[in-house]
Amino acid sequence: MENKKTYYITTPIYYPSGNLHIGHSYTTVAADSAARYRRLKGYDVMFLTGTDEHGQKIQRKAAEKGVTPQEYVDEIVEGIHELWKLMDITNDKFIRTTDDYHVKAVQKIFKQLYDQGDIYKSEYEGWYCTPCESFWTETQLKDGKCPDCGRSVELTKEESYFLKLSKYQDRLIEYIETHDEFIQPVSRKNEMLNNFLRPGLEDLCVSRSSFDWGIPVTFDPGHVVYVWLDALSNYITAMGYGSDEENGDADFKKYWPAQLHLVGKEIVRFHTIIWPIILMALNLPLPEQVYGHGWLLIDGQKMGKSRGNVVDPAILVGKYGTDAIRYFLLREVPFGADGTFTNEALINRINSDLANDLGNLVSRTVSMQIKYFGGIMPDEWTHEGVDFEIQKMFADLAKKVEANYDKLEFPTALAEIWKCVARLNKYIDETTPWILAKNIDDEDTRKRLAAVMYTLLEGIRIVSVLIEPCMPSTPAKIQEQLGVSGDDIVGWESSYEWGKYPKGTQVTKGAVLFPRIDLEKELEELANIGK
Ligand code: MSP
Repeated sequence: MENKKTYYITTPIYYPSGNLHIGHSYTTVAADSAARYRRLKGYDVMFLTGTDEHGQKIQRKAAEKGVTPQEYVDEIVEGIHELWKLMDITNDKFIRTTDDYHVKAVQKIFKQLYDQGDIYKSEYEGWYCTPCESFWTETQLKDGKCPDCGRSVELTKEESYFLKLSKYQDRLIEYIETHDEFIQPVSRKNEMLNNFLRPGLEDLCVSRSSFDWGIPVTFDPGHVVYVWLDALSNYITAMGYGSDEENGDADFKKYWPAQLHLVGKEIVRFHTIIWPIILMALNLPLPEQVYGHGWLLIDGQKMGKSRGNVVDPAILVGKYGTDAIRYFLLREVPFGADGTFTNEALINRINSDLANDLGNLVSRTVSMQIKYFGGIMPDEWTHEGVDFEIQKMFADLAKKVEANYDKLEFPTALAEIWKCVARLNKYIDETTPWILAKNIDDEDTRKRLAAVMYTLLEGIRIVSVLIEPCMPSTPAKIQEQLGVSGDDIVGWESSYEWGKYPKGTQVTKGAVLFPRIDLEKELEELANIGK
């Protein structure tokens, strides 16, 4: 049996405290595209996402609604499953922190860390931000408010268990300093070292006794495990770590350590300080990389349920289609940086890149092929100078795109592909096939026209292969129109080589790939939905 290289990638597990918005979809779509890309490259991929269901906030929300916390999260999680289906997300597993196997494994982890002296009991006094599930010290507060979200905090004092972060601090600093790939982008690495690690870590509160919606500490039932220890452990419990069953940890053995935890920048701290320390304490290897991407902003602010500026991804997908939304998310914002979401930017992108550039290219090409050659690729053609320039451009494309997908540089990867799309559109204007067609009875002219059509069809074929990680359903639609299928011609590696579009292939006219959107009309409609 062939031993494929494994690739384990995760998203954060989201709080089911309300419906997810386009910001959560951003992370999940990016992770999905990375997972799809690795699958296409032949990796054995494990793609994990899920929900982080415990904590005071969810308990309060459930109480407000008059339901149990479990009932509350069950309903929201169902919606999350639907959303991921709608967005064509191909996660291999979905973990809920209320899953029985996770609860048991976390209890074991907690007990082990306590038994070996890494967790101890003490008293906690600090400021708690319920929406962020975060404790802050007096000095960390900004104008008396939560430094992350700016909302009010509550003074809390209670008996708690603590994890000895300080014990592992020097080991972690050394690890981060000697593993450049571990925290990406690199600016976040410096931030972690300078702002948190070098000034010294305070031990972390890992249990609460003032509410009970959480995983009970087995040996001290008044306590529940405080959310970050519970939540972070999902990355190993989902793979069967701590399982009682025979071979229950087979996936853990196979996939751990993970290649990538993809997270938003605000939780890089938890993933690159607390999580590695938990793993060190458990004597487990650390993940290869934590990538902290930027935020989608609205009106200059992070989208947030409690701010009311959320954008519902399901509405956008319903209006414009999954691939268009995925394309926008991955293309618009430099990966790693913050970017602004506006309906106008979304519609403009769809119109220019998808309807105009790609959609028109495919539809014009197929129409011309039908008109000039009855839709069938002739056996003979004659290439000229400009064709070779295009062939060269396409021969280099896959390498460039892969180099960018490898680094999660989706915007650059897509920009490279769209440069080639634009080049093909320009090529149509340069070669003026409709003028050549007037003289199609002349053999030389016919062969020249055939070469032009070949160049277009072959270029589109390569584009259709390379967009697949980001836009999962568009490639098949394009390939159906081109009349091509099968691994040899449209498998991932077929993009490495120019010249695979077979002679004699028949094109078929298909539906418009991306209908043009009336900007003014749609903006008005979207504004009304928001009211
Ligand atoms: N439950 C924790 C994570 C635990 S992981 C062990 C949590 N959940 S969350 O529901 O608040 O989701 C946060 C994540 O959602 C961010 O890290 C990011 O991946 C994504 N995003 C939420 N809002 C976002 C934007 N406005 N923009 C980009 N990503 C956003 O934190």
